[in-house]
Amino acid sequence: MIEEDFVPSPYMNEVEEGKVTYRSPSNIALVKYWGKKENQIPANPSISFTLDACATITSVSYKKRVRKTSNFSFDLFFEGSMKEEFKPKIETFFNRIENYLPFLKDYHFTIETANSFPHSSGIASSASGMSALALCLMYLERELSPNITTEFFTKKASFLARLGSGSACRSIEGDLVQWGNHESTEGSSDLYGIKFSNKVHTVFKNYQDTILLVDKGEKQVSSTVGHDLMRNHPFSEQRFAQAHENLTKLKSVFADGNLNEFIKIVESEALTLHAMMMTSLPYFVLMKPNTLQIINKIWAFRKSSKTNLCFTLDAGANVHVLYPEHEKKEVFQFIKNELVVYCQNGQYICDQIGFGAQKIIINKK
Ligand code: DP6
Repeated sequence: MIEEDFVPSPYMNEVEEGKVTYRSPSNIALVKYWGKKENQIPANPSISFTLDACATITSVSYKKRVRKTSNFSFDLFFEGSMKEEFKPKIETFFNRIENYLPFLKDYHFTIETANSFPHSSGIASSASGMSALALCLMYLERELSPNITTEFFTKKASFLARLGSGSACRSIEGDLVQWGNHESTEGSSDLYGIKFSNKVHTVFKNYQDTILLVDKGEKQVSSTVGHDLMRNHPFSEQRFAQAHENLTKLKSVFADGNLNEFIKIVESEALTLHAMMMTSLPYFVLMKPNTLQIINKIWAFRKSSKTNLCFTLDAGANVHVLYPEHEKKEVFQFIKNELVVYCQNGQYICDQIGFGAQKIIINKK
């Protein structure tokens, strides 16, 4: 598919008003997206576990405006309070997607959004937030054009979410989602995420992710700036090639359940992501001393216990501890005894692989 396939034909229905709510999860990348081209096109393919507990719930109420103007019209409430400061991000998103959703200026929208995880936990809410909003808007598009297929609905929701935040395109479905052209993955696309459809060993079916909240402060460098710094990065070409190779390797790991290989790829991806940050110009470091303490503890425990826990990192100091469900008791005990001490205010979140976004209620007036 190409971008133009997402530009709709004139709508068949008239819709005056309505409301829809979606719950959309966060995701954690195993092969990382880091570096992008124009229009949110990734510089390399990525794959993620969709999460379950960490999610955003977004309701969108829409009401046809008496007169269309050249501006978007919307109010934004975050966890019950009106948030003027979040509006520019939505405005940018609307500008990027208007060509694909030409009804956007026809309605006044009231967007009410809330996260399941604590505010300012350092957990990026852009993936869950943008995917939830994209789904609500797609719901309205389907009201206007009811013959949209479920397959198209899902693809276009991912396509739109990507234009809000790249990683958001991987939050529509679960449990493993791949995004970005990859030579040996049929159907892979730079435009949207696809559900990983190859064989997946049962060990990966209910993988656990305990998120250790090491630092909840504002990041010194945003992901968007970090992506940009990959443009003239001295190691970018090798890095992008490595992501392709790691994705190919992971595909066989998923099929045969080789946890040793899984650990090597996932941890190397996390450290490479941060190595790219440290070797950007200007360079920056998002890990904190406690991030490294946790990594060293994980390595020592894995060696002594012969369990298969490993870590991954996103663009911040927090650590995602990944492990198979059958090792939960032993690993979780270790986390509580030895890792929680490195978390800010002892905070952590227990999550696991999830199955994607869901519509919650339809409150048609
Ligand atoms: C390190 O999706 O937050 O989490 O497209 O600019 O919104 P934007 O960036 P974003 O980048 C995520 C980067 C990452 C790796 C990943 O999720 O693949």
